[in-house]
Amino acid sequence: MRAAGWQPTRNLSAKEVAVKALEEYFGARPPFPALAAGQARLARLKRQCDGTRGFDLWTGRAPDRIQLVSLTKAFNELNTMSNPAKTTNLQTPLQNLDEWEDFLKERYPDPAANAPFQATQPNKVREEFRNYETSARPSVREFYRLNHRHQSYEFVQSKKHEFLSLSRRRMSVWEAMEFLNSLVDDSDPDTDLSQLEHLLQTAEQIRQDGHPRWFVLTGLIHDLGKILCLFGEPQWAVVGDTFPVGCAWSDKIVFHEFFEDNPDVRVPRYQTRTGVYEEGCGFGKVHLSWGHDEYLYHVVKDHLPEESLYMIRYHSFYPAHREGEYTHLMDDRDKTMFQWVRAFNPYDLYTKSHERPDVNKLRPFYEDLIAEYFPSQLRW
Ligand SMILES: [Fe+2]
Ligand SMILES: [Fe+2]
Repeated sequence: MRAAGWQPTRNLSAKEVAVKALEEYFGARPPFPALAAGQARLARLKRQCDGTRGFDLWTGRAPDRIQLVSLTKAFNELNTMSNPAKTTNLQTPLQNLDEWEDFLKERYPDPAANAPFQATQPNKVREEFRNYETSARPSVREFYRLNHRHQSYEFVQSKKHEFLSLSRRRMSVWEAMEFLNSLVDDSDPDTDLSQLEHLLQTAEQIRQDGHPRWFVLTGLIHDLGKILCLFGEPQWAVVGDTFPVGCAWSDKIVFHEFFEDNPDVRVPRYQTRTGVYEEGCGFGKVHLSWGHDEYLYHVVKDHLPEESLYMIRYHSFYPAHREGEYTHLMDDRDKTMFQWVRAFNPYDLYTKSHERPDVNKLRPFYEDLIAEYFPSQLRW
């Protein structure tokens, strides 16, 4: 099962989807241990599907997003229970990508609600990190375990080779936004924003604060690299705090102990402070762990100002922009440009309100803005 969870198939009605889920469930021959728990969960899911929303699981009306999410949940859960061999947890420990971002917010709380904003937190001690690690949900912990185990120097090279020819699709920016929005995961449709809504909300907040148009556009597109999930990439290779590979891991990287499982631990030249790089070489020469930041940077790099490209490429590089680590690999340009990465971070992390942006009303403004910087199609 992919990170995006089960994907709706155009030809299946909601009824067929539900029936398929139930068939998978009851088709598995007992005994299997989750049966009793499964039945209770099934009853709950069915109530969720057809109770409060007036949606009848059995009428087969075309599902909207909310219904789809409920059905997807039912399908995934039942599928997993009926066939433990297909358990998705190995590749998709997070219920949804927001779980990682919620964990970031616990580590870096909203300054509006707490202490004054600090772009870097040099005084933060290892102890504090341990507290976040201890209180992290098991799913988040598992996510970091996989991320730190698999994001090796060689893994990053192989993903760059696999994706940076940009030969998968040709899409406009708006089409990519809609494509990303088709990612159906276990978000709660009542309270969680869709991917498209997160992008619009980030952009709108930047616009309200009177920033330049390219900055607004950056907010609009910054997470489009998450379409990697829709290409079948596991969560730990799409999101997560990024960090350099090929040199020693900073001890400010959360869940540092999980690096013990990374094959690079056995490569002495990757374990020195500068590793395969030179002091002050600049982040442009440094390979970061693979994810949505680096991928999108390559998609858009010919079209946006340098400030914007820094924001896109390094917005998940928390060890650098929030912890102040890896300055020995920065060049002067990085030091100047990281001001912009830091300026962008609060918009990314703290603008999520539950007020939904009006997509149809905003679309003309953003289509104009997109056209100002991008050709009608980009290679993805
Ligand atoms: Fe992001
Ligand atoms: Fe984001």
